[in-house]
Amino acid sequence: MVNTKVNLCGVELDNPIIPASGTFGFGYEFALTYDINILGSLSFKGTTKDPRFGNPTPRIAECKSGMLNSVGLQNPGVDKVISEELPKLKACFKKPVMANVSGFSVEDYVYTVEKLDSESQIGWFEINISCPNVHGGGLAFGTSAENAAAVTKAVKRVTKKPVIIKLSPNVTDITEIAKACEAEGADGISLINTLLGMKIDLKTKKPVLANKAGGFSGPAIKPVAVRMIYQVYDAVEIPIVGMGGVATAEDVIELMLAGATAVEVGAANLVEPFACKNIIENLPRVMEKYKINNLSDIIGGAH
Ligand code: FUM
Repeated sequence: MVNTKVNLCGVELDNPIIPASGTFGFGYEFALTYDINILGSLSFKGTTKDPRFGNPTPRIAECKSGMLNSVGLQNPGVDKVISEELPKLKACFKKPVMANVSGFSVEDYVYTVEKLDSESQIGWFEINISCPNVHGGGLAFGTSAENAAAVTKAVKRVTKKPVIIKLSPNVTDITEIAKACEAEGADGISLINTLLGMKIDLKTKKPVLANKAGGFSGPAIKPVAVRMIYQVYDAVEIPIVGMGGVATAEDVIELMLAGATAVEVGAANLVEPFACKNIIENLPRVMEKYKINNLSDIIGGAH
């Protein structure tokens, strides 16, 4: 029998499959459709200091081989996440979860991480410095090595849990940002967030999204993700959580060969709510096909 276990920053996962933040709510919504305890873990909805209504609609647009989103970090704010969302998640998911945190200043990130830190179910923080859909935050940190380092350093001071920094592909050299985070103590790197894109409606002759541009995700971005994971694996020693266009067990193996220890599944959840379940069920068969006994043995195997 094949072994799908991986170890992410000292925490063992039954398998490397993690639904990506923003595509799986707080998990309990999906628990209505299947037992989500089959997942390796899950990264819950990006959480900010204050509640956010998000961007004006339309904020989703389908494209060939992918989709654009400009959600704008809609979430109820950290206090309600702790009092209302996490208890519901805890009732149906019995494994450590990844807390995805966004902010508009270094102080925001620190505030939210400090508040969430005492939640026992949180196994890792995923610090999102790469949201392309808000002004004055997110991406402003993820496109500057100096700013990325400052957030990492500040967050590391207020938690002992592993801190994984989620990076943007919308940069010239992602390895520079990854190295800056590692130098300030990041325990892992997750990549890639969405690629900035736009769709124009030929009838109105205007951008489809109210916010004009949005983050492009889905199968079309997988080669970009594989390339960036490969580059970052060569540049840092810390583990990588890979994501970008993953929809099948074969995709998971490809990202792991590039260098990912665990793999997040994003847009695929919006197309097929059972995407993660299907991937987990297919993984042993695909491993056998490619003569892989221990999944963790293939991490970075393409180098
Ligand atoms: O707009 C959003 O909420 C997206 C967030 C992200 O891509 O990080």
